[in-house]
Parts: sequence; structure tokens; C-alpha cells
Amino acid sequence: MNVTFASDHPAEGLIVVPVPQDRLDQGPAAALDRELDGAVMRAARASEFVGKKGQSVTLAGPAGLENAVVVLLGAGPADKATAADALALGGKAAAKAMMAHKTLSILLGDLALGTLSGDKLAVQVALGARLRAYAFEIYKKKADPDDLAKLRAITVVTDAEGAARDAYEAQDALAEGVRLARDLVSEPPNVLFPESFAERCRELESYGVEVEILGEAEMQKLGMGALLGVGQGSVRESKLAVMRWNGGEKGDRPLALVGKGVTFDTGGISLKAGPGMEDMKMDMGGAAAVTGAMRALAGRKAKANVVGLIGLAENMPDGNAQRPADVVTTMSGQTVEILNTDAEGRLVMADVLTYAQERYKPDAVLDLATLTGAIIISLADQYAGVFTENDALADALLAAGESSGEKLWRMPLGDAHRDMIKSDIADMKNIGGRDGGSSTAAAFLSRFIEGDTPWAHLDIAGMAWSKKDRDLSPKGATGYGVRLLDAFVRASRES
Ligand code: BES
Ligand code: MN
Ligand code: ZN
Repeated sequence: MNVTFASDHPAEGLIVVPVPQDRLDQGPAAALDRELDGAVMRAARASEFVGKKGQSVTLAGPAGLENAVVVLLGAGPADKATAADALALGGKAAAKAMMAHKTLSILLGDLALGTLSGDKLAVQVALGARLRAYAFEIYKKKADPDDLAKLRAITVVTDAEGAARDAYEAQDALAEGVRLARDLVSEPPNVLFPESFAERCRELESYGVEVEILGEAEMQKLGMGALLGVGQGSVRESKLAVMRWNGGEKGDRPLALVGKGVTFDTGGISLKAGPGMEDMKMDMGGAAAVTGAMRALAGRKAKANVVGLIGLAENMPDGNAQRPADVVTTMSGQTVEILNTDAEGRLVMADVLTYAQERYKPDAVLDLATLTGAIIISLADQYAGVFTENDALADALLAAGESSGEKLWRMPLGDAHRDMIKSDIADMKNIGGRDGGSSTAAAFLSRFIEGDTPWAHLDIAGMAWSKKDRDLSPKGATGYGVRLLDAFVRASRES
């Protein structure tokens, strides 16, 4: 999506005018009202529009702008507005334009919202619009044009045109990362499987990312019995993709981002129920977030060393699939009794976590995984769960969640949860029962963290896919995690 900044609005397309509550007489609304001989005020008065959040008024083809549709959009109380509100405003504007207009202009002029004004406001609004204006239509080959997105260009009209254009560049790289993550999650599982996902990672080489891909033979040599066991029932070869961005000081230990990339999760021999199984194409949402974050960091040339590692496997039932009761040996040397082949994500993650630490000696590890249905019971589609025994890391992540708007909630993890996954036959079992299912999954992962390496696990099962439209994404893949990781890297490594 093409985003530009201008100082004047065009005379056609959709023109959205944000109006803070009771501020119709100021800013871009007042300016447009003068231009249209009072039509803005008349429309507002006639429809009791005062700028409350959720309110909007449409003026189609008003005298003076015959080829345009003007929408006044309530922005709520101006003093209370946050950066997240500015993002949402851009998103709401794009939602109005998406299916009906080729061009969208958002009039900001000299508007101030909370502490945001000028280029800062313009950039947030632009990013919000850009994020919401996403459509995954490559498989709609013969669709009715009315069913396809029309929006092609977004213009943010601001008095801070030049500064906004410069500041937007980094945000554009971030938006590209989110788009990549959404595309990966949206792709059907017959198109996106371990090998084809790894090929998509390779494309990041053009942005300066070093990419390395391990196949089953290499993983066998490394002793990755847990990851390989998951993919054993699939005709698709399992892969491990490593993406390195070295934008920081030479020799500085990297941050490791580890992602769950189960390209389809049938449950394996512990087969899932049929209805809703199609949702499990998004079981690579953690890997998509890591890949998208690497794209964003490289695209904006982040001053940080970061390595992204994604474990890619397909969990299928088959004559060669692993069974409940199997015992596998992980790369760490620890053994695992498989009691449910549907608790596969933690098995994939275990070996990738070990590999990440042994090979890259990271100074911190974050993992993202659509790991448990239980986290959706706890946190719905509002927060990802963060599990760590490192308070400083938890606080830093929660702060990044606040600043990016990709919210996190800290969940419990401790020895009690590790006790719940003790096995009669092996070093641990891969399930702990229904109780505290997200915490026992996190406890399982914690067994693969060496020494006191700062580590946090993010369970994003409720966040990677949305059943309804949201301010910043249409229903479907959200790209959750990319903006959070970018904010975390900015705050913890670049400032
Ligand atoms: N991929 C699922 C978790 C999931 C559920 C992600 C819903 C997104 C939406 C995971 O592999 C899984 O099947 N977990 C099981 C674990 C259980 C067998 C201990 C679950 O949550 O039911
Ligand atoms: Mn599963
Ligand atoms: Zn899964």
C-alpha cells in the first residue's frame, strides 16, 4: 500500500477528518468547513455529531468537493489520546475506505491529540491506516470486483509533511514486517509447508539478513529427536530456518527470537476434532512473527544483533507418525515421554531452544508460539501470555506491549509447574493434564533453558488470528508479535 504525505487534500476519493470531542471549531474540521461554506458544521449539527469516539458523519459530494466523500470521524477526548488511539484512528479511516474507495486522505493539518502532534501524529495515523489496509486476495482469481479491496493509496495531509515523510520510513519497514507475517499465516497449508516457509525466509537475504536452513539429516546429526518426531508422520521434510541480523556492535551477543512453525497441526495420532481444524494452519504464527520481526529490523537497519530461529514441521497422523507412549531424546540429552501427540509445539520448541543457546550464545531468548488452547481460555483474544521467572525481562516485555499496543499479561511459572510434568519412564512428559495447561507447557520449555539465560515464553495462541475485524487488522491473520518485538528491540538494545 502506497502511503504519502501532503500539505493539501485532493478533490476526490474518501477524505476522513478526525474530530476530537467538542473541537469541531478547530483544526482540520474548521479549515474544511471554511472551504465548504459551512457544510461541515451543518452536517455535524444535523446529525448531533460532536466528535465522540465511534461517531461519524458522511458528506457525499458536498458542493465544492463534488467527486469526494467526506467523513467526520469522532476521535474522543483530545487530552486523553495516546499513540495507540492515533494508530486506531488511522485504522478506522482505512476500514471505511478499504472496499469502497481507491484513494484515502486523512486530514490532520495542525491537529494535536494528547501529546501527539505534527509528524509524530501523522506517522502513527499513517501506520494505523497502512496496517488496517491489508487484504490477502491472491487466491481470489475470478471474484466479483465488488468483493475485492479497492483502496490503492493513502495520503496523510499534515502541516508537518516533510518531517513526517522522513519519520515514516522506519514505520514502513515495520509495516512490511507485519504484512509478511500476515501473508505467511494466511497462506494455505498445501502451499506453506516447512520447505516453502524456509524459502520465504531466504527472501530476507535481499535485506541483508543471513539465512541458514537445516534439513532433517542435519537435525538428525544434532540429535533433535523431539522436533523430528513431530514431523515424522508428514511427507513434508521438517526444517529449521535461522535468520541473522547483525546491525549491532561486532561481538555483542545476540538476542535470540525462537518461533513455533507447525505449518499444520492435525494433532497427529491424538487427532483433533474435525470442526475448526482448518484454524490450525495458523499454528506457525510464532514463526511468522519472528520472520516478520527480522524483516522489520533489517528493513529499518536496527542497531542490534538479533537471531531468529524457527522450527518448521507438519503434525500429521500416519503409519509412521509418532505414538502416545513413545519416548524421544531431545538435543539437550533430556528424554521426553510423549503422552499426547497434539502437544507438539513444545517438542518443536525444545530442540530449537537448545540449538539457539548452543550455537549463538544469546544474552536473552524470547520465544513465541501458538502453544495452548488454555491461554485462550485465560486471556481470550486480548492479551498474549508471558511466562518467565526473570522479573526484569517480564517488565521490559510488558512495557513493549504497552508502547506497541500488542498487549501481554504475565502468567505464573515455577517449580510447581515443573513438578506437574514428571514422567514415570522419562525425564519429563509432554503434557501436565488440563489444569494450568499454559503454565505446564511453559514449564516444559523452561527445562530447555540453560543456566540463568534470561528467557521468556510468549503464548500467542489467542492473538495470531482474529475472527473479527479489528482497528488495525481485518479479520484473519493479525501479524501479532512483530510490532511487540520491534518495540522490545528498540527499547532494550537501541536506546
Ligand atoms: N496448536 C495447538 C494450540 C492452539 C489451540 C493454538 C487453539 C491456537 C488455537 C497446540 O499444539 C495444541 O494442540 N495444544 C493442546 C495441548 C494439549 C494436548 C495438552 C491444547 O491446547 O489443547
Ligand atoms: Mn497440537
Ligand atoms: Zn500446535
